[in-house]
Amino acid sequence: MQFDTVIHGGTIATADYVARGDIGIRDGRIAALAETLTGGDRRIDAGGRIVMPGGIEAHAHIAQESSSGVMSADDYLSGSVSAAFGGNSSFIPFAAQHRGQSVDDVIATYDARAARSVIDYSYHLIISDPAPEVLEDQLPRAFERGITSFKVFMTYDLMNLGDGGMLDILTVAREHGAITMVHAENNDMVKWMNRKLADKGLTAPKYHAISRPELAEEEAINRAIQLAKLVDAPLFIVHVSTIGGAEIVRREKFNGAKLFAETCPQYLALTREDLDRPGVEGAKYICSPPLRDHATQDALWHHIGQGTFESVSSDHAPYRFDETGKFLNGRDAPYPKIANGMPGIAARLPYLFSEGVAKGRITLEQFVALSSTNAAKTFGCDRKGLIAPGTDADIAIWDPEARVTVTAADQHDNMDYTPFEGMELTGKPEIVMTRGAVIVENGELKAQEGQGRFVARQPVDLRGKPGFTAKELDPAQNFGAELR
Ligand code: URP
Ligand code: ZN
Ligand code: ZN
Ligand code: ZN
Repeated sequence: MQFDTVIHGGTIATADYVARGDIGIRDGRIAALAETLTGGDRRIDAGGRIVMPGGIEAHAHIAQESSSGVMSADDYLSGSVSAAFGGNSSFIPFAAQHRGQSVDDVIATYDARAARSVIDYSYHLIISDPAPEVLEDQLPRAFERGITSFKVFMTYDLMNLGDGGMLDILTVAREHGAITMVHAENNDMVKWMNRKLADKGLTAPKYHAISRPELAEEEAINRAIQLAKLVDAPLFIVHVSTIGGAEIVRREKFNGAKLFAETCPQYLALTREDLDRPGVEGAKYICSPPLRDHATQDALWHHIGQGTFESVSSDHAPYRFDETGKFLNGRDAPYPKIANGMPGIAARLPYLFSEGVAKGRITLEQFVALSSTNAAKTFGCDRKGLIAPGTDADIAIWDPEARVTVTAADQHDNMDYTPFEGMELTGKPEIVMTRGAVIVENGELKAQEGQGRFVARQPVDLRGKPGFTAKELDPAQNFGAELR
């Protein structure tokens, strides 16, 4: 058999197994797996290296205006390049509908932005305005195009839908096989805290963490899950940052709810003490939900090891440490007027590999599942996240022993800081491929702008998730038949 590329002599790692073997690639797909393969126009020697599915970044804000109108610092070129340097072969950023916008227009806008990407991409569609024409026509059309995930917010005044709006979207999503992602924080609890803090003049960055209590996340996670159960719709809780939230997810998941969840490196690596750094330095660490404490870090790692989370995602939300980003409202702005979010798309996998695999908290198979395979399954990328004949040759080759010190310059994004600055990590992606084309090799970009392709996605994979039927909507109960 003729191959374009053979990756030879590496240790292949998937979500299911780790074994020595060769990979033959032809026409952008994996064409053969065997103990030994001969030939190949190019042979890559992967001796001493780990060969795994390229990462799939399922939570990133790229070329996206926040609800307060701040544009993220990374566009689809810089964002995808940074992702590639971090071991990712594809990503699914958000396409955000702001109130009054048609979803068709939003998608057209993001299509134009995403044409610069060097890696394959899709979008999760953020919905802030579930008007009838959105629910009845525009969302089904988005779904037909292969956009099979929606995202809603329970917080931020300009995004928050209210429980009724959420039920409407969950219902449309269920009917089409889409999954709804949710940012779960109780909006009124946060606003009430903001008022208390403002009354006392407490507006420094560190009060951001105080203003968004753990209880606000726990309450909203629980509420989101009950809403989804009422209509038996699949739900994905993004950026779980609390012990209580993780425990609720775990309990409901093992009771059969159609539930998925992620956490992020910043909640494992940083704490709310980082918001109290000198001067306005703490603004770099403002994100929502906020950073918590050391006990939470330990508990979240435990939950990662135990399977509470499908994915560890970056929530890359890049706002520079200057007047275009964090300080759009001035360097002395009160915390509610400082842009929310931090970068991390390049650091996600090196951090998870180093602190997870190299430190023995998770297995290599779990690393692959958390970084790639589960995102592909959850979000319907059926040719990605695997090393198997017929799948896309989206592959990352890692040196598991490389020692790396994280610096902002090495993130290859448009940012002027990284919250992970100075961390000493073990393991590094050396070669990254998208559909068989090398895009990063030994610290150099090999990709062409625009070589990424839109991925039309399949419905969410609900195998192993029996779901839930509310008694009142159960046709088998004498009072439930009319509503089904
Ligand atoms: O603080 C964050 N995460 N900003 C990005 C928007 C969001 O809440 O996901
Ligand atoms: Zn060989
Ligand atoms: Zn969020
Ligand atoms: Zn986010």
